[in-house]
Amino acid sequence: MSNCRACNTEVQPFMSFGQMPIANGFLKETEFSDEYFFEMEVAFCSACNTFQLINQPDPERMFHENYAFFTRTSRAMVAHFAIFADWLKGSYLTGENPFAVELGSNDGAMLENLAKAGIRHLGVEPSANVAAEAEKHDVKSLVAFFGSKTAQDILDEHGPADTISAANVMCHIPAMNDIGHAADILLKETGVLIFEDPYLGDVIEKTSYDQIYDEHVFLFSAHSVSSIFGPHGFELIDLLPQKTHGGSMRYVLGRKGQHVISSSVREILNKEQALGLTDAATFDRFRENCERSRTMLVSILKDLKSKGKRVVGYGATSKSTTVLNYCDIGPELIEFISDTTPIKQGKLSPGKHIPVLAYEDFKAKYPDYAVLFAWNHEVEIMANEQGFMDAGGQWVVFVPEPAIR
Ligand code: TMP
Ligand code: ZN
Repeated sequence: MSNCRACNTEVQPFMSFGQMPIANGFLKETEFSDEYFFEMEVAFCSACNTFQLINQPDPERMFHENYAFFTRTSRAMVAHFAIFADWLKGSYLTGENPFAVELGSNDGAMLENLAKAGIRHLGVEPSANVAAEAEKHDVKSLVAFFGSKTAQDILDEHGPADTISAANVMCHIPAMNDIGHAADILLKETGVLIFEDPYLGDVIEKTSYDQIYDEHVFLFSAHSVSSIFGPHGFELIDLLPQKTHGGSMRYVLGRKGQHVISSSVREILNKEQALGLTDAATFDRFRENCERSRTMLVSILKDLKSKGKRVVGYGATSKSTTVLNYCDIGPELIEFISDTTPIKQGKLSPGKHIPVLAYEDFKAKYPDYAVLFAWNHEVEIMANEQGFMDAGGQWVVFVPEPAIR
């Protein structure tokens, strides 16, 4: 028995994905004996409509001086954040000498655009290695976890903020109620809290269960965000669906009564009800869809193996850790995973210990099949990989369902 992380109502897990390692915990063989696993169970709270992990490893195990995720590895994400920054500037940073705070600012891919425009800004980033990269792009960062104490420190030093934004960060923060409190401390009366994260609606529609991993303690919907931030005096003022990360939602919250509410808020709340995002039965169907997806993917890979085909993985994403461990897929089915991130290369994938090699190894000798783990970057990857396809290479995909393409 456990309690909802958002509203404290008792919740029951509706599904377990089994023993999971740290999603970004790429490791060397000498570290196998110390590898950490936790049981990845998920629950849906019917009281506040929040989808959540029951157990989560300590944040220090996931976000540290060797954090393996750099936003800049994706050109499409860099372009996305340039557009995001422009939108932020034009919509919410229009006052005199505005101040923008970003949570989980990573390597500064978003704030760099504000820095260039001479806008006062501060990134709050717990992983020192990625924050150091941001500094190289003239982005000011505070190496810290964000919460009410950090908010007070920032307020004392810089004054109130016009915007607090976060992209693919909020769903990582277990103490969500403290974030509402912290936003209340740091934001101006008319200030806004903006965040975007993988959207529960897309996960349910596409059975993209790989969005569920240790770092993603929540998968939000407009209903859950409204329940979580309402008690802190905030209301949804806009909702903007995004294509990033396989389907995300951007939530814009302001203090109640301070802003005009966009019509998209009502529209999306209605859509969520129609999709069943406020109904526990939806999650039982989701579990069945995950089980079906697993059976199909394993069967495709075993079939290719039995035909003597060479199969590799494309993109050692955090999401792939869930797929590989839930489906019990190891080096016997996938020869290696190609990834462009230097600190992942030469290591082994968390839990299943598939070698991670440089992209050059993929390019040097194309396999017969590549499993598209980085499916959220599909447009960018297809544009780059005409050579692989011309050489007869095919993709194994698993979203929205396992297939060869
Ligand atoms: P993400 O899905 O969490 O954004 O991680 C994407 C991972 O995929 C990251 O480790 C970089 C890797 N990657 C490639 O190896 N090649 C590519 O073309 C892209 C876009 C990403
Ligand atoms: Zn709840």
